[in-house]
Amino acid sequence: MADKSRRYDKMSRDELYELAQQREIEGRAELSKEELVTALEQEEAGPDAVQLLLRQHDEIRRLFGEFDARSNRPSKKKEEIVRELITILVKHAEIEEQVFYPAVREELEGLDSEIDEDLEEHHAAELLLWELDHLSSDAERYDAKVTVLKENISHHLEEEESELFPEVEKQMSEERRRELGAAMETVWRVAPTRPHPLTPDTPPGNVVAGIPGTVIDLTVGAVRGVKRLVRRGS
Ligand SMILES: [Fe+2]
Ligand SMILES: [Fe+2]
Repeated sequence: MADKSRRYDKMSRDELYELAQQREIEGRAELSKEELVTALEQEEAGPDAVQLLLRQHDEIRRLFGEFDARSNRPSKKKEEIVRELITILVKHAEIEEQVFYPAVREELEGLDSEIDEDLEEHHAAELLLWELDHLSSDAERYDAKVTVLKENISHHLEEEESELFPEVEKQMSEERRRELGAAMETVWRVAPTRPHPLTPDTPPGNVVAGIPGTVIDLTVGAVRGVKRLVRRGS
């Protein structure tokens, strides 16, 4: 980080701004030269884990809203939305279960029962996702299954946002949250996109079981890195 800072220090504000533009750093136009250096360093360290999860929560809610806006009639469009929901929900659960929850459980006090409940809620949702993954939109109770999934997931997201995330923001350093964010981005790239409700959801079982065979070789290094990060503590 120090070397990079020195490199940035030699750059003009215009050069820093151009880099910030390439990396799509928000609010870059209002930032001073020093603030641009800080923003670039933070961007390199990885996204804040909590902010990354919150952005995904927003996208999940947007997709449920899109489904709700469709009529009761079966349609390919509804199936496409459900496919997108399955993908984002499975991958989101995977990065929480492989990286976020284990780190929070190990490093912070008093959140064990909260995380146990979260894992059970993931498991219940994944059973419904598995069913939806095998149905077309003309199936009996297709819409009802999506509605129940939405109710369960909404409750889960609200709980994470009102109880778990504020506690993590309070107790965990920003540097550590960015390390976890970077690890979650790595796992996101190789996470499965289809539900596997009967595979383990806690380490070490979930680390390999949840990853498709074709990418296991690619993943071993990443997973070792994740485990190191998770074990390391702040
Ligand atoms: Fe979750
Ligand atoms: Fe979440």
